[in-house]
Amino acid sequence: MSVLSEWINVCDISELKKGDMLDFDYKDKKILLANLDGKIYATDRICTHAEADLSTGILNEEGVTCPLHLSTFNLKTGVPQNLPAEIPLKIYNVKIEQNEIYVEVE
Ligand code: FES
Repeated sequence: MSVLSEWINVCDISELKKGDMLDFDYKDKKILLANLDGKIYATDRICTHAEADLSTGILNEEGVTCPLHLSTFNLKTGVPQNLPAEIPLKIYNVKIEQNEIYVEVE
């Protein structure tokens, strides 16, 4: 069975500066957008450990660190780098066209 996906226009690139994070919802998805050193990443926003909102966490060179129990998730792979989280975050494809950021969602 194929899954239909679509590209959602989230914001202008100027709204997400280096070191910034931005949250948005699309249907039932809660998504985190992050600008880590000029590269844009999109992942699920809710921590896989105990459902903290990662948009209130800390962005650093390792990824995003959960504000509740401090697991850090790699933004490229979604994989937690330390306990207590063990389950990866879902990651989304990102593209930039004409200075607009798009995220691919199903
Ligand atoms: S809720 Fe994120 S590490 Fe526990």
